[in-house]
Amino acid sequence: MRLEVEVLAGAEEIGRRAAQLVADELAAGRLRTLGVATGSSPAPVYTSLAAPGGPGGGGPGEDGPGWDGVEVFALDEYVGLPPGHPQSYAAVIDREVRAPLGLDPRRVHVPDGAAADLDAACAEYERALEERGGVDVQLLGIGATGHIGFNEPGSPFSSRTRVVALAERTVADNARFFATAEEVPRRAVTQGIATIARARRHVLIARGAGKADAVRAALEGEVSPACPASALRTFQDVLVLLDPAAASRLSGRTVSRRSAADVR
Ligand code: GLP
Repeated sequence: MRLEVEVLAGAEEIGRRAAQLVADELAAGRLRTLGVATGSSPAPVYTSLAAPGGPGGGGPGEDGPGWDGVEVFALDEYVGLPPGHPQSYAAVIDREVRAPLGLDPRRVHVPDGAAADLDAACAEYERALEERGGVDVQLLGIGATGHIGFNEPGSPFSSRTRVVALAERTVADNARFFATAEEVPRRAVTQGIATIARARRHVLIARGAGKADAVRAALEGEVSPACPASALRTFQDVLVLLDPAAASRLSGRTVSRRSAADVR
């Protein structure tokens, strides 16, 4: 198992580094399925992948390793938002990932948070992932609670795609995307920790001082459902990309430092 931690100058450098990893997998013919996350942390990865001349070869019509045949699976979705709501993760992934990369909408999968039978929709999402043969590269953010996807503290490492309740802190943090805190859904569908664990490689991105405690708990605390992101330390091949503020509470022992100049 491999877990590397790199501290980079900021969002742009982190975006380029992660995009390069994705593009290298694509160029090597090893990227059939990309796992995507929402939130501000992975956004620069998508920008970098889609940039003309960027590591992903740009959007539609650009040269470079093609996205043909690549499928995208999202980690999670709110429950209870009307279909098409601009803050639904289906809409966010469509705007931030599908459109810039020019992907066929039929190749983009997001859990159905509006299904009449949510449990059946969760089982169906697991089945679709299974049938696809799992995720090759999974991009992840981390919540201030230590969540990955929407797996809040207490989520068993054996968990699969299911309906979950959001922590109060998560509702408060995500309120910035909504007009009022009341509008933030209280429930979500999320891939479970065991579902996420199945990916061949993981890239976790965290930026800002607000993530420093969660990053420390994930990388240096106990490996336990009390910090869902600590499950990363049981995964096969993990790259953690941090800015200096997110890394500020680490002891430093686990951290290898790279300068922006080292990043292609
Ligand atoms: C949401 C998502 C997570 C994401 C987290 C952090 O709660 N469900 O997948 O990692 O936000 O978001 P940000 O990167 O914007 O801090």
